[in-house]
Amino acid sequence: MPPSTALTATGLRVTYDETEALSGVELAVPAGRITVIVGPNGAGKSTLLEVLAGARTPSAGRVETGALSRAFVPQRAAVSEHLPITVREIVSVGAWGRVGAIRRLPPAVRGDIDTAMHRLDIVALARRPFGTLSGGQRQRALLAQGLARGADILLLDEPTTGLDARSADLNRRAIAAEIDRGATVVCVSHDDGLIALADQVITLADGRVSRASAPSR
Ligand SMILES: Nc1ncnc2c1ncn2[C@@H]1O[C@H](COP(=O)(O)OP(=O)(O)OP(=O)(O)O)[C@@H](O)[C@H]1O
Ligand SMILES: [Mg+2]
Repeated sequence: MPPSTALTATGLRVTYDETEALSGVELAVPAGRITVIVGPNGAGKSTLLEVLAGARTPSAGRVETGALSRAFVPQRAAVSEHLPITVREIVSVGAWGRVGAIRRLPPAVRGDIDTAMHRLDIVALARRPFGTLSGGQRQRALLAQGLARGADILLLDEPTTGLDARSADLNRRAIAAEIDRGATVVCVSHDDGLIALADQVITLADGRVSRASAPSR
């Protein structure tokens, strides 16, 4: 894998029962850039992102990331409504992988949690139980959790879908700030504002890459 490439996927196949969701996907993600995956509902975008994130094992093929760390923010978070956990705790979960079993987070990590919460404008919600947030507030908190991981590669599934204009803008700015610190971003999105930031746009159709290109600016 060339040093300018953060992640490559080769021959990815995923089959759910009868459905073949991915049918031989090949792609390369440039380091320090934004790649956006587009395509119609059911094209296999979320399945692909899960495999790229290491959250789903493909039936065939492989993903290579060298020694780079990954943070994944899924399309639908599996956080129970009834879990007694605050917004700040949800964001802090993102940092656990960086510090192992240490109970008190080091100041630098706490600083990154604060920065992520500021960027997504959820500081005022810090003590609220996560289950009491609106859908858009939850989405911002979960993106902040992904940022708090401080990972080399961020994989985001529809990070602006369903958000009002201001919240979508906050998310796009937070994503752009990750690129500025040297991270690589891969997002699934239909958002023209996010596609405009992309260095590469990959179109998925029926489980295959139908097009991979620099966007027309
Ligand atoms: N857990 C599952 N079990 C069975 N089939 C699944 C499962 N998850 C996804 N599929 C099927 O796999 C295909 C791809 O689904 P996927 O969620 O990856 O699409 P998507 O491109 O992300 O769609 P959307 O734009 O609606 O989010 C669809 O036909 C879907 O019905
Ligand atoms: Mg999806």
